Amino acid sequence: MAYSDNLQSKIDNLRQRSKSISLGSIGFSSPLILAPMASICNYPFRLLLQELGAGGTVSELISAHAIHHGNERTMKMLRIHEDETNVGIQLFGEDADMMAEASKIAQDFGPKFIDVNMGCPVRKVVTKGGGSALLKDPKALGPYLRKIKSAISIPLTIKIRMGWDDEGINADEIIHVANEEGIEFVAIHGRTRAQQYTGQANWEYLEGLKPESPLPLIGNGDLHTPYSTHQRLEHTQLDALMIARGALRNPFIFLESYLENPKEQIFNGDDYLEIIQRLYDLVCEAFDQDRVRLIQLRKFIVWFAAGFPNASKFRASAFENQELDILMKLSKEYFLSIENRGKFIDHEAVFMNSGHG
Ligand SMILES: Cc1cc2nc3c(=O)[nH]c(=O)nc-3n(C[C@H](O)[C@H](O)[C@H](O)COP(=O)(O)O)c2cc1C
Repeated sequence: MAYSDNLQSKIDNLRQRSKSISLGSIGFSSPLILAPMASICNYPFRLLLQELGAGGTVSELISAHAIHHGNERTMKMLRIHEDETNVGIQLFGEDADMMAEASKIAQDFGPKFIDVNMGCPVRKVVTKGGGSALLKDPKALGPYLRKIKSAISIPLTIKIRMGWDDEGINADEIIHVANEEGIEFVAIHGRTRAQQYTGQANWEYLEGLKPESPLPLIGNGDLHTPYSTHQRLEHTQLDALMIARGALRNPFIFLESYLENPKEQIFNGDDYLEIIQRLYDLVCEAFDQDRVRLIQLRKFIVWFAAGFPNASKFRASAFENQELDILMKLSKEYFLSIENRGKFIDHEAVFMNSGHG
C-alpha cells in the first residue's frame, strides 16, 4: 500500500464524492482530468495524480517526428505504468503520415486514447504547421485527422485553443470537423494562440460551445484552486474539466475541489511528505540516473511547497544542493515543520505563463 491509513482514508472519502463519467467511449473516474504538460506529465507524476483523484491523465506532448526516428529519449516518454487506468498519449506534428505512424507505435504502449496537440503556441512548432497552427485551416483538418484515425484502433481525441487569434476564433467549426472524423472528445483551453498565456481563460465562450456541440467537451484554463474548480464544477454545462498548473502547486486539487467548503484544507504537511515519498519511489523506478531523479523531483517538491510558510527559503535551500538524499532530507524537515499550517495560493500572481498548449 502506497499511503498510511490516515492519508488513504482522507483520499477515499473525497474520491467517493466524484462520479465516473464517459466521454464518448472513454471512461473516466471523475470529471476532473489532469491536462497534458510538457516535461511534467510523465508516468510517475500521472500515476501519483491518478492516486490523488484525477479522473484521467494525458501524457506530455511527444513529437511524432522523434518517434519516427526512434529517438531513445522520446521512446521512453511513451511508457505507461501498469497501474495507470485512464491515460492518453498526446502527440504533435504537422505531417499526417508521420502522425499516423507515431500513433500506431504509441498505441502499442497501452494508452486508452491518442490525443492530438492542436493548442501548442510555441513558434518552433507552429511555423512548421503543428500545434495551434492546425486551427488555421479547418478544411485541411479533416484529411489530417482521418489519416491518423485510420492507423489506430483506440479512440482519437484533440486538444485545441479557442482559435488562432481574436479574429480567428473557430473552436465551434473545429468541433464539427472533429465530429465528422469520429473524434471522441475535444478539450479546449479558453485562450487563443495569440494570447499565449495572457489574460483570462474565456469560460463564457467555452460554456457557450456546449449546447451546439455534437461531441463531449472538456473545458480548461485557470482552474488554479480547489475553490475555483468547485465553483466551475457546480455550474458548468461542459462534460469535464482539465487542470494543468493548479495541480503543480496543489496536487490534492482533484480531491479538495469536492470539499463542501473547498477553502478548507484537509491535507497537511505530513500528507505532502507522504506523496513526495511516493513520487520519489516512482521517479527512482522510472529513471536510473541520480542526476535525472534529482532534477525531476526537485521541481515537483518546490512547486508542492508553494504557498506554505517559508516556502521561498525552502526553495532556495533545495536548489543550493545537488544531492538527491540531501533534497529528501531537507524536504522531510520542511514538510514536517508545516504541520497544520495552511497553504495560500495567490492565483493572481503569474505562475508558469508559458507551455505547449
Ligand atoms: C509547463 C506547461 C506545459 C504544457 N505542456 C502542454 C502539452 O504538452 N500539451 C498541451 O496540450 N498543453 C500543454 N500545456 C497547456 C495546458 O495543458 C493547459 O492547457 C494550460 O496550462 C491552461 O490550463 P491551466 O490554466 O489549468 O494551467 C502546458 C502548460 C504548461 C504550463
